[in-house]
Amino acid sequence: MMLHDKTILLIISGGIAAYKSLDLIRQLRKAGAQVRCIVSKGGAQFVTPMSVAALSEHEVYTDLFSLKDESEMGHIRLSREADLILVAPASANMIAKMAHGLADDLASTCILASDKPVMIVPAMNPMMWDHQATQDNIETLSDRGVRQIGPASGEMACGETGMGRMAEPEDILSAVYDFFFERPLKGKHAIVTSGPTYEAIDPVRFIGNRSSGKQGHAIACALIKAGAHVTYISGPTALPCPPGANSISVEAACEMLEAVENALPADIFIGAAAVCDWAVDNVSTQKLKKREGQSAPALTFTENPDILKTVSSHEKRPELVCGFAAETQDMNNNAKAKLLRKKCDWLVGNNVCSAQNIFGSDENEVCLFKYTDIGDQDITSQTLPRMKKEAVADFLVNEIISVFENKKDQNNEPSHTTRAAE
Ligand code: CTP
Repeated sequence: MMLHDKTILLIISGGIAAYKSLDLIRQLRKAGAQVRCIVSKGGAQFVTPMSVAALSEHEVYTDLFSLKDESEMGHIRLSREADLILVAPASANMIAKMAHGLADDLASTCILASDKPVMIVPAMNPMMWDHQATQDNIETLSDRGVRQIGPASGEMACGETGMGRMAEPEDILSAVYDFFFERPLKGKHAIVTSGPTYEAIDPVRFIGNRSSGKQGHAIACALIKAGAHVTYISGPTALPCPPGANSISVEAACEMLEAVENALPADIFIGAAAVCDWAVDNVSTQKLKKREGQSAPALTFTENPDILKTVSSHEKRPELVCGFAAETQDMNNNAKAKLLRKKCDWLVGNNVCSAQNIFGSDENEVCLFKYTDIGDQDITSQTLPRMKKEAVADFLVNEIISVFENKKDQNNEPSHTTRAAE
C-alpha cells in the first residue's frame, strides 16, 4: 500500500531479539517494500539465513563470503541502492563498530561504504545498554544523524529487567513510515464508521443494505497513511481490516453507536457507514416458520439511534465531524438539510442513482458540503468528477489535513471550518 517504491536494507545483528526481525520483514513486505537482508555472524546464531531469505524473497548475504570477492562488491552496492539501512536488532557490538567506523564484516562494511540514511533498533542486556561506552556510542551515532527506535524497557529474554528490549515490529514500521512520509495527522485520532449495518429479524435473517464499505475502508487507509491513529468500526463487509487500524466489527446500528462512543474522544469522526434507519421490533429468538395458509409475518420497526447526530452533539465532540449522504434525488437541497439537521461540519453527498451504480463499485461521484460561518453563505459545496474511491479518500483527507494545518497557523485559535457541540 505505502512503501511500494522503497528498498530497505535490513541488517540483522546478534541478539535473541533477532526473532522479531522475521516478523519485521513480513510487515515491511506487506507494506510493499523491497527488503534485502544481511545477517551478521552473531545474527545467524539466532535466525537462519534460510528463513530470512524465504520471508524477504531475496538472496540473503552473510559473512560466509570473502570481502575481497568480486561478488562481495556487489553486496556493498546493495547498501548504496537502498533508500534506508535498518539495523534491527542493533547489538551493542554493532553499535560500537558503527560509532568507530569499523569494517570487519559484511554488515559493518556495507554501512561504512554507504551514505544512505541509517536507522538502528538497539536490543541488548540492560547493563550493556546503560554502560557508558554504549551511551557514548549512541550519542556519537545520533550526532551523525543516525535515527534510533527504542529500546523499550521491560523484561528481557535473558531474564533481567530494564532498558534494552527491542522495539516491536509495528513501532519500527511506523517509524519507517515517519521517515519516508510527511505525516501531517500524526497524533490525531480518527474514528471511521463503514459498511452496512444488519438488523436482525430472527437468528438467520436480517435487514441490510447494499453498502460494500469500500469508501469507508479507503478513507481509513488514507488517514493511516497521513499518520492518524484510526479506529475503524465496520458493519459486515467482505473487506480485510485496513492495515494499521484498530478495527472493530459490529452488526447492528446500536452496536455501532456503542463502539463509537467507547472510542471517543477523537479529533476526527467520519460517518461513512450506511446505517439502517430502523431495527426490527421483537426480534424472534427462533427462526420464523412459514406455515401453510398463514400470511407473511408483519414486521414492525423502531427507529435506530442516529450515530452521526449523536457524535455531533456529544460532550466529547470531535473537532471535525463528517457525515455521508446517499441521495437518489435533489442532492443539493437534501444534503444541505441533512448537514444542518445532523449538526456535522462536513457532509459528503453521493448520488447513488447515477447511471453506473455506486454501490459495490470501485468509483464514486461525490459533492463535499462544508458548514461555514464565514460570509452570508452557510454551506459551501464542491462537486468532484467521478473517480476511484481511493482518490475520493485522498481528496477528503487532504481537506482534513488543511483544517488542522490552518488551525496550527492560527495559533490554536478555533477554526472557522468546524463548529463546537451545541
Ligand atoms: N447515519 C447515522 N445513524 C443513522 C443513520 C444515518 O449515523 N441511524 C449517518 C450515516 O452514517 C451518514 C449520514 O448519517 O453519515 C446520512 O445517512 P443517510 O442514510 O444518507 O441519511 P438518513 O439520516 O438515513 O436520512 P434519509 O434516509 O432520510 O436520507
